[in-house]
Amino acid sequence: MIKKAVIPAAGLGTRFLPATKAQPKEMLPIIDTPTIQYVVQEAVDSGIEDILIITGKGKRAIEDHFDRNFELEERLQEKEEAMYWEMRKLSEMANIYFIRQKEIIGLGDAIYYARQHTGNEPFAVLLGDTIMDSVIPVTQQLSDIYAQYHSSVIAVETVPADKVNRYGIVGGKSISDSILQLDQLIEKPSIESAPSNLAIAGRYILTPEIFKAIEETPKGKNNELQLTDAMLNLLKTENIYSHTIEGKRYDIGNKLDFLKTTVEFALRRKEFADPFYQFLQEIVASHQANSDKN
Ligand code: UTP
Repeated sequence: MIKKAVIPAAGLGTRFLPATKAQPKEMLPIIDTPTIQYVVQEAVDSGIEDILIITGKGKRAIEDHFDRNFELEERLQEKEEAMYWEMRKLSEMANIYFIRQKEIIGLGDAIYYARQHTGNEPFAVLLGDTIMDSVIPVTQQLSDIYAQYHSSVIAVETVPADKVNRYGIVGGKSISDSILQLDQLIEKPSIESAPSNLAIAGRYILTPEIFKAIEETPKGKNNELQLTDAMLNLLKTENIYSHTIEGKRYDIGNKLDFLKTTVEFALRRKEFADPFYQFLQEIVASHQANSDKN
């Protein structure tokens, strides 16, 4: 059973500027809930007890979000009991620890900060800017596969063949409907050289041997220490599997996906579903009428 998780959340969020100049992208809310809260919830729902969040400069809001706020609690306790209990629950979701990544030089480097926290245990990694929607939490899906194979497991999703150059892509031998035993991992390959259209989807189970592999990995694409390169190194000494997730991934780190996520999640919320749907129909109709005119 996987009990520890690492959530890297130190990145600069350059694709979401100017919003991310002075606030963490992981705190951008989908309706009323910061992205990283969905991520922590997935970890908790997957049986994780200890979570290490990798933060950096300008990320204090993440720490405050999972801490208690006595002034706010006092105010809510008098007037809004349900929200009071929601805030209390939020600060008690899991044992959450923080460490700061000193230089923002890639996901591989961020994960390396977890070595003391995770020790000799395998651990989950959940990217702090990626929400998963699924019946069985994706980290739980990976954890179940780890229990079978005792090797690192990467969540992947199918992407259109002409978009493989935007993702980390895996290749390997199929051993079941959803599982590959990997022989290739490549960050943002050209369309011609991609071994498949299975893209690394922001959730992993890693064995502690990853730390040695990170130490031996030079900086790669964008002059960053890429986790994908470190995993390719790990493949020399251990098996690694990929699992095509049952569920949907939402990468809120890019603006268009953030907008789509907000709309989808709003349509699922009871209190907004009907009026929001009606609003969308009206603006789509008026947009259509305008474009017919032009
Ligand atoms: P991304 O590559 O999507 O984040 O990393 P980024 O670098 O902030 O994004 P852009 O390209 O500049 O817009 C995925 C996750 O890994 C974390 C990020 O915070 C994000 O949650 N990350 C990335 C780190 O913690 N450290 C790093 O050095 C890089």
